[in-house]
Amino acid sequence: MKLWKGRFSKAATSSADEFNASIEFDQRLYKEDIAGSIAHAKMLGKQGIITQDESELIIKTLGEILSDIETGNVEFTIESEDIHMNIESILTDRIGAIGKKLHTARSRNDQIAVDIRLYLKKETDAITTAIKILLDALEKLARQHTDTVMPGYTHLQRAQPVTLSYHLLAYYQMFSRDQERFSDCLGRIDRLPLGSGALAGTTYDTDRDFLAKELGFASVLPNGMDAVADRDFAIEFINCCAVTMMHLSRFCEELILWSSVEFSFVEIDDSFSTGSSIMPQKKNPDMAELIRGKTGRVYGDLMSLLTICKGLPLAYNKDLQEDKIPVFDAADTLKSSIGIFTEMILTMKVREDKMENAAKYGYMNATDAADYLVSKGIPFRDCHEIIGKIVLYCINKGIAIEEMTMDEFKSFSDKFEDDIYDKIAIRSCIKAKLSKGSTSFESVDEQLADIANKKQAR
Ligand code: ARG
Repeated sequence: MKLWKGRFSKAATSSADEFNASIEFDQRLYKEDIAGSIAHAKMLGKQGIITQDESELIIKTLGEILSDIETGNVEFTIESEDIHMNIESILTDRIGAIGKKLHTARSRNDQIAVDIRLYLKKETDAITTAIKILLDALEKLARQHTDTVMPGYTHLQRAQPVTLSYHLLAYYQMFSRDQERFSDCLGRIDRLPLGSGALAGTTYDTDRDFLAKELGFASVLPNGMDAVADRDFAIEFINCCAVTMMHLSRFCEELILWSSVEFSFVEIDDSFSTGSSIMPQKKNPDMAELIRGKTGRVYGDLMSLLTICKGLPLAYNKDLQEDKIPVFDAADTLKSSIGIFTEMILTMKVREDKMENAAKYGYMNATDAADYLVSKGIPFRDCHEIIGKIVLYCINKGIAIEEMTMDEFKSFSDKFEDDIYDKIAIRSCIKAKLSKGSTSFESVDEQLADIANKKQAR
């Protein structure tokens, strides 16, 4: 039986019913929906809009419905369309006319808005916790690899030597900003839409501040039309998910490259790899590839909700029912991706020897050799030119810069002295960086200390 059947002379076809219904996906909001209804019933009782006895009976029955849903003793129907009307129907089935009073001074429009906000508050918490665990994992690895030297790349060409710790801490910073972004976003999710009615407010003497307190919202949305019509907070939430997925995806791309025979920098654990159905030798980094692929899905979720909202006249439109699909998908995908990723990096084997070996070839000390000549009084641009010629000479001879004899050095510039060999050794190149936030061993130690301090302050 439709709760809104009064005005209709004909039932919807079953295909129209099915098309219209959202219960298939919005049933996961049952907890939030019941919490919203309990707060609403309490407020109605307190304000004398319904009697205290009615309020108490509704609240008690909603509690029973909640536990019945949780033990699998409730069946939702497409007939009742969405989670709101399903729960209201069950309530009315159980307590008759009193149940019908629950929807006084309320609309499904403010009801769904409060449900999603409650849901996203919970999801944001779960995601920030997951990011925290990931940050701890990165910190742990970074502490283990302060002396693991590897090539740093630009354009995926060997550029300058860095430590693995430095590389990992770059991701640490990205993920901590992601965490910040979620906290900022939470500030805008955490505002109460309930009590706005369908769009214009209600004729009852309701108490929205009480509702906010009951449901744990930080504030009350000041305009009811805005409260039921906008989903900017959900767009922002998916945006936070998309950016975090983008960071995970970049890291995954590196792990995929690093686990290839060509790099051999890491070995992803068997428990996070898969085999090939035809090639017996294969061990594939499927988890990392899937996270990279799922990033595309989450971008799609963001675009999807932005597009759903564009062009909607105020206030509520049924298009908004579609918001839940991308919101749920983005949250689920991000949570599972962070979880898998964290376990994957904690179990992978780092091949320090391969990293260090790779750092020895590729003329990554060329900038340091140029800086050496600068210290001898030659302008940087000229040093760049001299070292460029040295690199070309070495490439043709198939040797590293440090493999040249002193005579060879002198043939390019008489400023070279014996100390050049020490100055361009890999660890010297790393150590010599002086700027704040560099790859130098000292700076990385500072960065790690800063992380530890901030954690203590939290
Ligand atoms: N199932 C709807 C949604 O998810 C609830 C609000 C429906 N409101 C309405 N006036 N039809 O958006």
